[in-house]
Amino acid sequence: MQERKVYFNGEYVSEQEARVSIFDCALMFGDMVFDMTRTYRQKPFRLREHLERIYAGLKYLEINCGMSLEEMERATLQTLELNLPAVDGADVQIMHNISRGPLPMYKTVFGGALRPTVTINCWPFWWHLAGNAPLYRSGVNAVITAQRSVPAYLIDPKVKNRSRMFYQMANLLAQKANPPGWPLLTDDQGLITEGSGWNFFIVRKGRVLTPPGRNILLGITRGAVLELLAKLAIPTSEEDFGMYEVVNADEAFCTATSFAVMPCTRINGQPIGSGQPGELTRKLIAAWSEMVKVDIIAQADAYAEKVKEMELAAAAAR
Ligand SMILES: Cc1ncc(COP(=O)(O)O)c(C=O)c1O
Repeated sequence: MQERKVYFNGEYVSEQEARVSIFDCALMFGDMVFDMTRTYRQKPFRLREHLERIYAGLKYLEINCGMSLEEMERATLQTLELNLPAVDGADVQIMHNISRGPLPMYKTVFGGALRPTVTINCWPFWWHLAGNAPLYRSGVNAVITAQRSVPAYLIDPKVKNRSRMFYQMANLLAQKANPPGWPLLTDDQGLITEGSGWNFFIVRKGRVLTPPGRNILLGITRGAVLELLAKLAIPTSEEDFGMYEVVNADEAFCTATSFAVMPCTRINGQPIGSGQPGELTRKLIAAWSEMVKVDIIAQADAYAEKVKEMELAAAAAR
């Protein structure tokens, strides 16, 4: 198979060669913007929206990445095209990582010339989706963590940035919970915000509720799901709710670029509704699969098989 290539400041290099300086603002401050777009049938899904979110974040952080959105789009599509022969037909993540570049006080290391760091990589989705495959059937246990969301007046989560220590703390806590699960964060009043890499929805009496866009990342999948629900004539509302509403919901689900829609069947180990993926959630997964022309559950199952095969082959080669 051909080698994957990374877009790195205007050049295409191998993944091993794509190295960010230890003096980069990304490493020094987590001062950067990133985004993950995915492909379905190897075509990017809502790339423009992801790029618009990147550029909104860059504007907020006053980072000039030196490329227009159109130039970034062209570089993205070229990176994808270069990598498709190297992923054996798989769908991929398209990851943008963009920082202000090295800190000015270290400029002598760079011959006095500083520039932003712009990278784009394509990574096959095998591993991401393999781990999620069984969860489409069992649903996720959401764990409300002691680690809360950082409020937007401190770090605005609408900027998809790498200052993610609080999400990581929430991950660690949720892994240690009994039973373990995916962390669901709350704000300083105990209202639900989002997961550490996903948005959250509940269903009550046929209505779908999701937290308003105040203290969350405005997920592209969240937006697409709200549109899809409107097409299915299912009423939705962006409103505040807490643990009480989640425990007493009929269904719940999570959304993110990688897995699209994932049933959430328990909260802190307590069943939500029947404790099984709900009817509306299953309908939504089917509608999503129809929209993107990929059966997302079958794809996750196929990728789980592929990962098993790769692990067996690696073990045999040792
Ligand atoms: C904190 C957070 N919330 C929500 C999401 C979901 O956003 P999207 O649907 O655009 O992937 C992500 C995605 O990584 C995230 O990091």
